[in-house]
Parts: sequence; structure tokens; C-alpha cells
Amino acid sequence: MNPRPFDVPFPSTRYQGSKRKLMEWIWANVADLAFDSALDLFGGTGCVSHLFKTAGKRVIYNDHLCFNWTVGRALIENRDTRLSPGDVELLLTPRPDRTYPDFIQRTFSGIFFTDAENAWLDRTVYHIDHLLDDPLKQAVARFALFQACIAKRPYNLFHRANLYLRQADVQRSFGNKATWDKQFADHFRAYVEEANCAIFDNGRDNVALCGDALDAPTDVDLVYIDPPYINGRGTGVDYHDFYHFLEGLTDYDNWSDLVDYRYKHRPLRRQSSPWTQPDAILDAFEAVITRFQHSSLVISYRSDGIPSREELFALLRRYKTTVRAADHAQQYVLSPRTSRELLLIGV
Ligand SMILES: C[S@@+](CC[C@H](N)C(=O)[O-])C[C@H]1O[C@@H](n2cnc3c(N)ncnc32)[C@H](O)[C@@H]1O
Repeated sequence: MNPRPFDVPFPSTRYQGSKRKLMEWIWANVADLAFDSALDLFGGTGCVSHLFKTAGKRVIYNDHLCFNWTVGRALIENRDTRLSPGDVELLLTPRPDRTYPDFIQRTFSGIFFTDAENAWLDRTVYHIDHLLDDPLKQAVARFALFQACIAKRPYNLFHRANLYLRQADVQRSFGNKATWDKQFADHFRAYVEEANCAIFDNGRDNVALCGDALDAPTDVDLVYIDPPYINGRGTGVDYHDFYHFLEGLTDYDNWSDLVDYRYKHRPLRRQSSPWTQPDAILDAFEAVITRFQHSSLVISYRSDGIPSREELFALLRRYKTTVRAADHAQQYVLSPRTSRELLLIGV
């Protein structure tokens, strides 16, 4: 199959910082660059990898979180493995002959999901691990599971024990109670369908990697760099903390050893990262730019962040001869200040 950019729809997403809605703008700014291979260094949902895949490029997806890597396998590396209606029913049908584990029910009671939902999660993870033997089918099923979990969470995050927000009988100025209360199984079916529609073969050997940005391979023509963002007040986005529950789902059998039980929301033990520290992030950018300086570089950031637009521009100029910048005039509804998406391109 040889589609053109945007011919194959990418699934809907509620992931923090996703560029899903900016893909046309990104493509308009990079389509003229000469490149055959692309590394999506901070891949997240994989939507930018998918864009490059539809453009016929050889794509390397990378993210340091295992749950994201699983999504990269399902949607980018995967050529043609889909879940059939029979697979879905197999996964969703309880089996009287099995004894299911109950780690989520014991550990997360009253925290993110109801008791019945936690039991559904324990059973469905078990089914994915034990009833599917194709790793790519498992990846597609996990993709749907993660999306369902995100959709049913207030703020679409796992950073607080706030199940009560879903259950309180109050007037709401945010959120979507109908989405929160929709059955896990219904969400799951819908996201499997979205994944099945997004899977295609572009005739290239695309891969998904799980690792730190500084360990990714350098033999690529273009590197797309969309790291976590620190706002002007110095507050960063800690993806490991925001999505720890999904990371736990990818390592269910060892999850209990990884939890930091001191906190009510039972996160995984914290990992320090320069990408969440205002005084370390500029050096982290420099380390990435140094490593990939022989490729064309496309950096996504926000115009009001740390480092500033000017600092990033100056940094890129030290390594690349031609540097240009593009702003997207989007303003977030809840943000009183104008915060624009920024693309810095160095070739
Ligand atoms: C802004 S998001 C990327 C969003 C993505 N471009 C999309 O459109 O969905 C940043 C991503 O960087 C990942 N990340 C954070 N630190 C990382 C590191 N040191 N190495 C690789 N990935 C990292 C996070 O897990 C997160 O998915």
C-alpha cells in the first residue's frame, strides 16, 4: 500500500502534549526537507511517526516509557496484524476455568476506577497476556486498553487519587461524565477499531524502540524532537508520574515491586529526568542536538517555555547552518496567556 500523508486515519487521543491536531501544520513545515528516514525521538502517541509512515518514510519510533513503546509497535512497526472480532470477544469474555489475579483490585481500590472496573482490568490484562500468543496482537490489545483507561480518567491522567470526581453528584465545569461512565468493554471495542484502521504497510522496515533519547540510533536523515515541556513558571510535565498506571499495566507481574506505597495514588517509584528540571533542560537539549547534529532536526516546543524560544534558536544555530522557526497561532482555551506551538527546523 502506498498512501499519501493523512490518507490513513490516526486514532483519536487524549495524551498530554500530543501533536495529533497539529499534524497538518507540522507536515506543511517539513514536507520540503529531503529525507528518507525519520526518527521520532520522543514518540508519545506515535501520531508524528504515523504521519511519516504515510509519507513513505522509514520510521524509527522511540519513547522511554514501555506503554508508549507498545503503542509504537502496534501502530508503527506493525504492518498488517489486526485484532479480529473473535479476538476481541475472546479477550472480553470471562472464563470460568481460570483463576484471575487481583493486584489492581487490592492495590488501587477507590483510587482511579471502581471495584468492578478494577476487576475488569485484572481479568483483561490476564487475557491479553495468556490468551493471545502473537506479540503484535497483544500490542494492539494493550493500545486499546491504555486508551480506554485514559478516557475514563478525570483530566485523562493518573497523577491523583481522585475517583471521587467521577462519582460526586455535582454540577461540573469540566470533564465528560458520559465518557467516564461508559463501560470499559465498549471503550475497548471502539479503540480496537480505531487501531485496526490505522495499521498499514508502507513497504519499509519501521521499528519501535523503548529507550532514553540519548541512546537512540543516529543513522537517520531527520530527527523529530518533541520532549516534555516546562512552562515559564518552571512546572514540567512528568510523563512517568502522569501515566504510571499504564506503565504498570505493561509489567503486571512485577508491578507490586515497583510501586511507591507512600503515596495515595500508588505511583511507580520516581525517576529523575533533566526534561522536568528547569535548570537542567537546556543542557538536555544540547546533548540531544549534539548527538543528532548530522541529521536534519525538527524541534517542537512552546513559545513561552523554559528554555525560551531565543535560547533554543541560538542553540540550534551553533550546530546547523540553516535554521528557521514557525509558530502555530493556537491559544489554549483555559490559558489566559498566549502560548504558541513552535517548530524550530535546522538543516
Ligand atoms: C510531548 S510528549 C511527545 C508527544 C508526541 N510527539 C505525540 O504527538 O504524541 C513527550 C514524550 O517524551 C517521552 N520522554 C520523556 N523523557 C524521555 C527520554 N528521556 N527519552 C525518551 N522519551 C522520553 C514521554 O514519555 C512522552 O511520551
